Amino acid sequence: SVLEMEVEQINKGKYKHYMQKEIHEQPESLTTTMRGRLIRGGACKSKTVLLGGLKDHLKTIRRSRRIVFVGCGTSYNAALASRPIVEELSGVPVTMEVASDLVDRQGPIYREDTAVFVSQSGETADTLQALDYALENGALCVGITNTVGSALARKTHCGVHINAGCEIGVASTKASDWHCAYTSQIVVMAMLALAVGGDMISNEARREAIIDGLLDLPSKVKEVLKLDEEMKDLAELLINEQSLLVFGRGYNYATALEGALKVKEVALMHSEGILAGEMKHGPLALVDHNLPIVVIATRDACFSKQQSVIQQLHARKGRLIVMCTKGDSASVSVGGSCRVIEVPHVEDCLQPVLNVIPLQLLAYHLTVLRGHNVDQPRNLAKSVTTQ
Ligand code: G6P
Repeated sequence: SVLEMEVEQINKGKYKHYMQKEIHEQPESLTTTMRGRLIRGGACKSKTVLLGGLKDHLKTIRRSRRIVFVGCGTSYNAALASRPIVEELSGVPVTMEVASDLVDRQGPIYREDTAVFVSQSGETADTLQALDYALENGALCVGITNTVGSALARKTHCGVHINAGCEIGVASTKASDWHCAYTSQIVVMAMLALAVGGDMISNEARREAIIDGLLDLPSKVKEVLKLDEEMKDLAELLINEQSLLVFGRGYNYATALEGALKVKEVALMHSEGILAGEMKHGPLALVDHNLPIVVIATRDACFSKQQSVIQQLHARKGRLIVMCTKGDSASVSVGGSCRVIEVPHVEDCLQPVLNVIPLQLLAYHLTVLRGHNVDQPRNLAKSVTTQ
């Protein structure tokens, strides 16, 4: 009806689509996710993390034999992005489970495990089945969700709400409510890593740097969003392509998977996120002068390895689009021969939050240019229909 259409437009504000609105409102959704949870001051003036929903369980989590992350789609990717920092700060090994695969295998879950379930909607059937299974096996079950009162929030022993707020005005089963959840989920899991890690003197400097990085994130996200026009130009260039590869490693393996997932499920273009360390074990065979390839090569411990990946792809005439840290263009563009996307630098474990944004913008513009429905992608399988 006309009224419904008007309400839709009010909800979308100045934006054409919900997806676009969510992408551009990430500085706000991230701020909301962190609100009241990063506390400055205290006796030694250092900053700490307060996650009310977890505080009574931190000891148990610290003592657990391992942490198992469970999710589907974007939520799985967010957990993967956070895995290294959770391992580093907690010292507890973290394993990854795609929810449906855990259930298919009936994989081992023990009483000594902490199972962390990540789901934007809190209603995804695969994730809920895996949760029932982990509960039966006696693991401590932690929920990370955007949806207060969801099945995930109710059934887990404890948890953290991401408070991204992005579902307001949009039914939670609609397609457009998870784009901003990814970045908020990573922020929540970085805070979880800090909380579980506790305040050991040995990692004090690292903790401080991460907390400062978190507080800086919204303004850096604003800076990345200025790439909008540039990503639209890139989308115009790629509009008729069959396929897009995205190479990442370390903290940004997840960025590669998530960028590819958005291009696939929203822009309906084939895309694969590839672990750059596996390049020579198969994917290299695909490289030619036609296939566009995004390589994520921002500054972190993996930078020099990514530089050599770029060299090897270039040697095979790959059509490269390199994402790098501001000021690094010259050192990644192999003599100016590839397109470069420059993003600001932030503490390595938070870099995935910034790096995914140009890829979200690319997926958005590709979708619009290819004439597909941005807010209601084809074959969308949310909660009730996942079976
Ligand atoms: C659906 C969507 C994915 C989403 C996944 C998990 O399959 O197509 O984009 O990531 O559900 O959703 P959740 O609500 O559990 O995060």
